Amino acid sequence: MDEAISSAAKIPRLSSTITRRTCSLMGVQIVGTGSYVPSNVVTNLQLQDQCPGCDPDWIEQRTGIRERRIAGPDESTCDLSVAAAQKAMAQAGVYAKDVDLLVVGTFTPDYHCPSTACLVQDRLTLDAPAFDISAACSGFMYAVTTAAQYVATGNSKLALVIGADCNSRIVNQTDRTIAPLFGDGAGAVLLAPGTMEQGFKSYQLAADGSGCAMLDRPAGGAKRPVDVAALEAGEHFLRMDGRNVFKWAVRTVAESIEVVLESAQMTIHDISLLVLHQANQRIIDAVATKLGISPDRIFNNVHKYGNTSAASIPLVLDEANSLGMIERGDTILMCGFGAGLTWGTSLFVW
Ligand code: UT7
Repeated sequence: MDEAISSAAKIPRLSSTITRRTCSLMGVQIVGTGSYVPSNVVTNLQLQDQCPGCDPDWIEQRTGIRERRIAGPDESTCDLSVAAAQKAMAQAGVYAKDVDLLVVGTFTPDYHCPSTACLVQDRLTLDAPAFDISAACSGFMYAVTTAAQYVATGNSKLALVIGADCNSRIVNQTDRTIAPLFGDGAGAVLLAPGTMEQGFKSYQLAADGSGCAMLDRPAGGAKRPVDVAALEAGEHFLRMDGRNVFKWAVRTVAESIEVVLESAQMTIHDISLLVLHQANQRIIDAVATKLGISPDRIFNNVHKYGNTSAASIPLVLDEANSLGMIERGDTILMCGFGAGLTWGTSLFVW
């Protein structure tokens, strides 16, 4: 049997404790945020028509999701990215000519080749190196910390970082166990040199590939190109062992947050804004309980957009920023987690 198929049966040897390794990177600031979601709203009730056995109340009670945005037939990850980037640039009052680095976190690129970043670079007419980072729902955390290295070293004066995903293109819209969870969107930030008090006070990026089969898309890559058998088996769609990903996420996110707080010698009560990956309201609430805080302390929009993968964190960040919830000097906690398995947690001083 093909290994891609048998990988589904692979037993994850997930470690019982997470790494305690953290890094710090100061001298970086966020000078603009922007986001974009497709105009097409699909409510839980509407989903019921296309997805057999899908119960709208079940979705809301088990996930907190009430609706999601789905890209139109002519919209792609690049289009969402460009719209979010233009808003971030307008908010920061900068021009395309000022951007000297572009990093796009996505696991739903327009093409396998070339990268979505190159398509965005062309559309925005940037004079900048451009590359994608593939870390699924941790994509934005991986992208923003990567771009920050260039800014902190002086090798970028203005870096554009985008988290974008068109999940509707890889999710089986007739599978009630996965279709209700995901939506499409994009968020962007602009990074520039800051003071030595601004930046990533502590961050942790990590991976545990032993859990790769818990959340995967087996066909469509070099290992298993899409053929008729793969299409018939639906192996070109995203698959998830939801229950086990849920348990892994609650434990990993809470522990990773504790590790970065400890390394920064801070407590959860020092944090002004908590931004967690928006996969499921119940995961967010369970993490809050583990951290000993009220779930209300975490700013969410999962009810409006569902899980937008790499877009999830910058979508929340931009919404909070637009509402005036972020002040200079605030410490913002951001944590992304997902397929790989991967996670990224940071304390960012604004
Ligand atoms: O972003 C990447 C990371 N992803 C995540 O963090 C997602 C993590 N996992 C989850 O959020 C949750 O596990 C899910 C939302 C995916 C599932 O919630 P759950 O509470 O773990 O439900 P379950 O999978 O245990 O399913 C319970 C029941 C099942 O029926 P049986 O087997 O008990 O008869 C499902 O078939 O609910 C059924 N079900 C539904 N019923 C009505 C699943 N989806 C639906 C639906 N409508 N849409």
